[in-house]
Amino acid sequence: MKLQNKVALVTGGSGDIGSAVARHLAEAGAKVIITYVGAKQTAQEVVDDIKAKGGAAAFTQLDQRNPLAIDACVDSIVKEYGRLDVLVNNAAWNIGIPFVCLDDLTSDIWDRVLEINLRGPFLLARAASKILKANGGGHIVNISSAGGISPGSSSIAYSASKAGLNHLTRCLAVAMAPEVAVNCVAPGLVEDTRMAKRLPNAVAQSARRQAVLGRVGQVEDIAEQVLTFVTSTSITGQIMVVDGGMPGVMR
Ligand SMILES: NC(=O)c1ccc[n+]([C@@H]2O[C@H](COP(=O)([O-])OP(=O)(O)OC[C@H]3O[C@@H](n4cnc5c(N)ncnc54)[C@H](OP(=O)(O)O)[C@@H]3O)[C@@H](O)[C@H]2O)c1
Repeated sequence: MKLQNKVALVTGGSGDIGSAVARHLAEAGAKVIITYVGAKQTAQEVVDDIKAKGGAAAFTQLDQRNPLAIDACVDSIVKEYGRLDVLVNNAAWNIGIPFVCLDDLTSDIWDRVLEINLRGPFLLARAASKILKANGGGHIVNISSAGGISPGSSSIAYSASKAGLNHLTRCLAVAMAPEVAVNCVAPGLVEDTRMAKRLPNAVAQSARRQAVLGRVGQVEDIAEQVLTFVTSTSITGQIMVVDGGMPGVMR
């Protein structure tokens, strides 16, 4: 198995995409620790499911708005497992505020989105840096969004946080080389996720209509791409859009 003896931390593993990523990494042999912030029961179910299929998994609570909690989370993994090979910065938060409603995007909402979606991934990478470097071959995969490339998503704050995460990927790829590869998956609409269901129907339908492959992403597509990144030894600093192919986002 490609990830035998590896330890992976997947933030937001109680969520739709994070749980699929956790399952894929566990199927590839990794011991997976997932985080949740409120959905303990769901996190437990994801871990139980992985174990029932013969994988190794655990869950831990983490509110990544809290820098001290991030350090404590990584420290406890190092203490318990002695290593960390993969960090998937998947957790995020969004709220639907149309771009034109500038006054509705308060500074509190802005701070919350940016703290969770951008500062959190940086602090996690920083906290995990030493242990990811320790054995060589470490990997970070950030989950951003196609909304971080073109200006359209649940809110301006979300789009800006994901654009920041895209560039943080490149900066960390330089900062953490050669021991750690840092890459990013930028999903477009991902079918059957709670986040996608919060989008106005017209936005979701428009994404489906534009996808040149005739389908947008599924959670498994995102998980497959994460697995590809963490099993590669020659790719770093890259942002892979997974959206079924939107003409407007292709370069
Ligand atoms: N779904 C889509 O269509 C789509 C499209 C583009 C990009 N993405 C990106 O893909 C990633 C996963 O999305 P998803 O659809 O799986 O979302 P989701 O189902 O809503 O899951 C979000 C995860 O983040 C966790 N979380 C929320 N606030 C947190 C905080 N303060 N501290 C730590 N964890 C927190 C949640 O924990 P609880 O479960 O405990 O609340 C949950 O595990 C996100 O980065 C998202 O931006 C998704």
